[in-house]
Amino acid sequence: GFRCAVLSCILSRYFLKMEKKESITFAGAVSHVYGLYKGAMLTLMIDIGHRTGLWIAAAKLSRKGSSFTSTQLAAEASCNERYVREWLRTMTCGGMFQYDSNGELFSLEKPYAMILGGPQKTVVSMALISSLFSRNLDKYVDVFKNGGGLGYEHFPEFHGLMAELSKQNFDDNLLKEYMPRTGDILDRLKSGEKLRVLDVGCGGGHAMLVLAKEFPKSEFLGFDFFSGKALDTARSIAKSQNVGNVQYKVGDASKLSVDSFEAGLKFDLICGFDVIHDQKDPQLVLDNISSCLAENGVFLMQDVAASSNFHENISNPMSPLLFTMSALHCMTVSLAQDGAGLGNMWGRQLATKMLGQAGFTDINVAAASDHVNDIFICRKPSRSLHANI
Ligand SMILES: C[S@@+](CC[C@H](N)C(=O)[O-])C[C@H]1O[C@@H](n2cnc3c(N)ncnc32)[C@H](O)[C@@H]1O
Repeated sequence: GFRCAVLSCILSRYFLKMEKKESITFAGAVSHVYGLYKGAMLTLMIDIGHRTGLWIAAAKLSRKGSSFTSTQLAAEASCNERYVREWLRTMTCGGMFQYDSNGELFSLEKPYAMILGGPQKTVVSMALISSLFSRNLDKYVDVFKNGGGLGYEHFPEFHGLMAELSKQNFDDNLLKEYMPRTGDILDRLKSGEKLRVLDVGCGGGHAMLVLAKEFPKSEFLGFDFFSGKALDTARSIAKSQNVGNVQYKVGDASKLSVDSFEAGLKFDLICGFDVIHDQKDPQLVLDNISSCLAENGVFLMQDVAASSNFHENISNPMSPLLFTMSALHCMTVSLAQDGAGLGNMWGRQLATKMLGQAGFTDINVAAASDHVNDIFICRKPSRSLHANI
């Protein structure tokens, strides 16, 4: 009887759930899928506009308050008029430009000018992601069939794009939103105490630059296992801005220890921005981070705001984008190393569990104001607390 009751409860829930989802008509399904194709085409055109400077040129012409012809835009962006005309027509049909048939004039509305050709670079840069993935389509088919993964070498534009995307985030949120969550660490930095700060998988290195400028008495170190352009650029920016308290080194987080940079060197603040879920061995990296934290130190981890229970992500409008990015980049770069392949949708429950296994006993998770990330502030038990127990 009990089993029947449980079963009928489960079944009724299942059917209730099924009923809740409205059944779609054939025409509705076709229209839904074509809508997605339209978005994909426009995304390509947005990317081309970004790479050719058309958005910046259109925003500039719009700032002068005037509408413009395709010839004027082509001249402003040094592009071929025939292609520009077609691009403008596409984008007008896509809803970004207004069109005045008297004089064949186009105008870009201010909000679009801001996000596609203005200072808010994050939105327009995101278009590059689909182009980045498209180049690997045949290789994705291969791993879908046979397993394995695509390593970082298959994403030549990744580090540049990531640096561009996260620069905006660090400029907007690091000092205002993330650092206040570290509590006493921020107080100590502000008071002029010399703290040591490490950024694991620092990519373009901008986070440490922002902090090093703000807290000149402390020392900042970013490391990444890519020795290429991203770290060189970070070094030269720090040099050109006379920021002497930041360094960038090549290193592997899976080999991180207190002796990695200087014998016995521990850190008061360790940051991991969007970096744990694509590790070969994420638990090992968390363990390493934990062992490199000084007494009363904090591990500040930024990761995608997701639930480890898949169904809790279904209603998140960002999920289709985040799951695709996860499978086609974060998960696959880890699987390419025979790694865990967590992907960026590993979720806060699993993250919290693994942080606990790494020895963090005080883990505070908060949604970031961008609605895409969670911020984890992780502490280990302090020795004085141990002594009291
Ligand atoms: C998604 S990106 C994030 C970069 C940067 N933290 C940011 O927010 O812009 C992940 C970075 O981690 C680096 N990375 C991945 N695994 C690593 C490892 N085991 N050791 C060092 N760096 C690693 C990658 O090269 C890449 O730059």
